[in-house]
Amino acid sequence: MLKLAQISDLHITDGPPPYGRDTRASLTKILAAIAPIGVDAIIATGDLTQDGRPGEYAALAQALAQAPARVFLMPGNHDAPAALKAAFAHHPYWPESDDLSYVIEDFPLRIVMLDDTWPNEIGGRMTPQRAAWLSETLQAAPARDTLLALHHPPCPTFDPMFDRIGLHDVTLLEPVLTTHRQVRRIACGHYHRASMGECAGLPVVIAPSTGWHYRLALTEGGPHIPPTPEPPGFLLHLYKPGAPLMSTALWT
Ligand SMILES: [Fe+2]
Repeated sequence: MLKLAQISDLHITDGPPPYGRDTRASLTKILAAIAPIGVDAIIATGDLTQDGRPGEYAALAQALAQAPARVFLMPGNHDAPAALKAAFAHHPYWPESDDLSYVIEDFPLRIVMLDDTWPNEIGGRMTPQRAAWLSETLQAAPARDTLLALHHPPCPTFDPMFDRIGLHDVTLLEPVLTTHRQVRRIACGHYHRASMGECAGLPVVIAPSTGWHYRLALTEGGPHIPPTPEPPGFLLHLYKPGAPLMSTALWT
């Protein structure tokens, strides 16, 4: 069985702790909680740092040195993709392009890491180019069960603020997913709440943050902060060929 951990919204910083949360300490705790599970890999679905500064990526690299399995990174809106790629240049999976999308082929479950970030925007964007890349990528292995990972949830949260800064142009993504039926699940982050949604009839699972969780806010100007007392968390995806994919949230 494949055991895949997903960490998200790490917000590592070498500056003041965001909302008073020591995100480096909580990431260390999360990695220690992942260790005894014996995972095959860890995917990190964006907002790896608070401000995308080189010093923050250095701090992230230091924290991830304790990771109990290989880590696959992708940017979120708080990241600087070029600085991320430069800081982790020794990671072998980066593409040549500015879009840091790639495929992990090493496991029975194929994992597509889709970069949906856009310079100077908090929301994510699908574009015709990204949809075409995803379509070609899925076309290349139609018989392989696939997990699609991206930073922004491709579904409404009904939190007015988060829906404004969610994934724009989801209508470009939906037809790709209805055409290529091997995608079993979509895994993302950004919302800082363990949640489930739906996109093109597929389950969307939103990882908790390894740093903090925003308060439920279903009305305009809702009280996202101060963060909830929920502890930092992560997702564990369990995959056995021929069986349904299982995703569970764990807290530290
Ligand atoms: Fe975040």
